[in-house]
Amino acid sequence: MTVPLPPDSRSLYRHGMTPDINHDESARINVLASLNASVAATLSASVHLAYEHDAAPKLTADDLDITNPQAKIGATVREAIRPSPVYQSWASLRRAIQEMNRQNARHIAYRQIDSLSQRAEALSDDRTTLQLNPSLEIPRYLANADNHLQAGGYHTEIKPGDMTAAATYDVATFVTAMGMFGAKGDSGGRGITKWLAKHYPDFKPKRILDLGAAHGGNTLPLAAAFPDAEVVAFDAGAPMLRYGHARAQSMGFSNVRFVQGAAEELDDSLGTFDWIQSTMFFHETSGPALGEILKRIYALLNPGGMTLNLEQPNFTPETPVFDRFLRNWDAWYNNEPFWVQLHCMDFTAEMIKAGFDPGQCIEGGVNPDLEPGHYPAWSGKINRHDHERAKPKPEKSGYNGEGWYLFGARK
Ligand SMILES: C[S@@+](CC[C@H](N)C(=O)[O-])C[C@H]1O[C@@H](n2cnc3c(N)ncnc32)[C@H](O)[C@@H]1O
Repeated sequence: MTVPLPPDSRSLYRHGMTPDINHDESARINVLASLNASVAATLSASVHLAYEHDAAPKLTADDLDITNPQAKIGATVREAIRPSPVYQSWASLRRAIQEMNRQNARHIAYRQIDSLSQRAEALSDDRTTLQLNPSLEIPRYLANADNHLQAGGYHTEIKPGDMTAAATYDVATFVTAMGMFGAKGDSGGRGITKWLAKHYPDFKPKRILDLGAAHGGNTLPLAAAFPDAEVVAFDAGAPMLRYGHARAQSMGFSNVRFVQGAAEELDDSLGTFDWIQSTMFFHETSGPALGEILKRIYALLNPGGMTLNLEQPNFTPETPVFDRFLRNWDAWYNNEPFWVQLHCMDFTAEMIKAGFDPGQCIEGGVNPDLEPGHYPAWSGKINRHDHERAKPKPEKSGYNGEGWYLFGARK
């Protein structure tokens, strides 16, 4: 089978904070991205065959009954398929690619720890739009997890002013997403603004809050779509915000403020908002945090305001146990501990618990929107995250297998 190659990492858009990447480092990135694509396109199908041949015959009716807590999360399949050499090859390759990717990106960031800070210093004309809180207690689920094997997570600082966590994240995302996040890492933000323009053309937010904004990749399209709005990029990790702030300034954005805090402690000190957005944020939190954050979102939204959240879809009663196993794989082997619980949540029920009117809740799907011109047209061909998505159902309304699951509400 011919596997389409991901774009060359050297075709990534370079903003003012993009780390310098030498020949060997970019060669490593390209090898890892291609290997990831190849594993996704070839071996993944074999894992399904291994399931059917080696694992399924061992499963009992109880193992397939999703009222059984183990079957409900796919753990019965995980136990049954573990001895399969095909599965073992696929799993160890995926784990090794992620480890090598994070290590390579971390190495790139570390060797320029000082020059990145100097660059940020030179770029940051407006210091009032970076508001850090050195006494913030990092939420336990972030401090303890090293999510997706990024050593030190999003918050660790090696020395004062350090932003290597963000540079690592920026570089490593290319391999993980194989270009699907776009050359500027903004295809989620571009997608949601298009969705909004299509479904709510009259919605013109004046104040926008992006939760878990990280380096602002998906925040900037919101600021570009509503240039008169005041945008707050909010995150717990100071390195992400320092880097994001300088990055945004280098790209000419003056309407985005980068603010450090924990979303479950949000109060009205930032004011109220017309649009509260999040992209790939909730899956890094926890059950109690998710409930608390939704309540705070409700409290901070102006009447008529909207919250829109791009995430992975939850399991429905029709999600087969094999798909449950695949979609929870990262929880067990890629340090994403909250995925198991998240996949079993009813997001609309959570919105209602937080105070939203059931008639105003939104459930749907958003496709990533890749900025044309940066990559060759390849990225629709492979998606490592296919297994994380629900299977499209032609007759279904709401979410229908798009790249992102959307949940939200209007107040
Ligand atoms: C996977 S990243 C998402 C990045 C970004 N939204 C994007 O689309 O590229 C998750 C971000 O959420 C932040 N985060 C997680 N829990 C948080 C919390 N309780 N309060 C604030 N930020 C949080 C992390 O620091 C991290 O930067």
